Amino acid sequence: EWTPEAFVDLTVEDLKKQIGNEKVVLGLSGGVDSTVAAVLLNKAIGDNLYCIFVNNGLLRKNEFESVLDQYKDMGLNVKGVDASARFLDALKGISDPEEKRKTIGRSFIEVFDDEAHLLTDVKFLAQGTIYPDVIESISVNGPSATIKSHHNVGGLPDFMKLKVVEPLRMLFKDEVRRVGAEMGIDPELLGRHPFPGPGLAIRILGDITAEKVKVLQEVDYIFIQGLKDWNLYDKVWQAGAILLPVSSVGVMGDERTYEKVVALRAVESTDGMTADWVNLPYDFLQKTSNSIINKVKGVNRVVYDISSKPPATIEWE
Ligand code: XMP
Repeated sequence: EWTPEAFVDLTVEDLKKQIGNEKVVLGLSGGVDSTVAAVLLNKAIGDNLYCIFVNNGLLRKNEFESVLDQYKDMGLNVKGVDASARFLDALKGISDPEEKRKTIGRSFIEVFDDEAHLLTDVKFLAQGTIYPDVIESISVNGPSATIKSHHNVGGLPDFMKLKVVEPLRMLFKDEVRRVGAEMGIDPELLGRHPFPGPGLAIRILGDITAEKVKVLQEVDYIFIQGLKDWNLYDKVWQAGAILLPVSSVGVMGDERTYEKVVALRAVESTDGMTADWVNLPYDFLQKTSNSIINKVKGVNRVVYDISSKPPATIEWE
């Protein structure tokens, strides 16, 4: 029977054997997977693990600063790199979802490579890839190529020439969380909803601008904070807001407005492969909608997504 204790013991031993005294570089995303991978590696090789946490400008509100502090508190050897301007610049004018992913993937690799070059004698690249990423990536590259290019799987540029270490590649998300708990990682961090690598870029339909990111960060913050305040956060597998490329007419006082629509999405799932929309209380939806429309300038309408996966996906892009 699989247990987190046994997994940690075996994996730490394996990592020690595989890596020895070499240096490893790892990109932290703020999510559960890369964090658990980092803590496992830190247990095995200590400060020979060099973590890099990149701000792509597409994270949630305040996420970069707060998560970076949290990583430092955990004793990880981590460097924060703010590359927001570079990503937003590269994304200028791009509306196609796959093009966004490719651009973000490319920018990430550039930033990461610049940082990795500052270190000398790195031999390994560690990643928090989990089993569903592996599977979805296989189906992307297979004959019925459809789904999505998860930029964190495979596709490494030759010039990096690092050996890849993926200690979580056989685990599902719930197992990753149990492994994290076993190693004493903060339950709040472990309970965080999954968040896509391309971040808010794939929740802003159409082209991306700094202003749109700001609007969506505010909407997302109200929604997520509301879920926490109403004790609903842990009942939901993933939640977020989507900024639609649609303006609709509204009325504010005596004035007609013509502003953006946002969709809220909250799903139940075990691994993200299938998902159901969550039956959130009407009271909660009402308060959240009012709060968003009153507080976020530029948004005058909120809708709730009631589509299951399949056939809809969790993200809109
Ligand atoms: P979909 O939208 O395919 O999402 O139902 C399933 C899960 O995967 C996440 N997701 C991504 N994660 N890079 C990532 O790292 C991506 O390009 C990407 N696209 C979707 C999504 O948030 C959900 O958890």
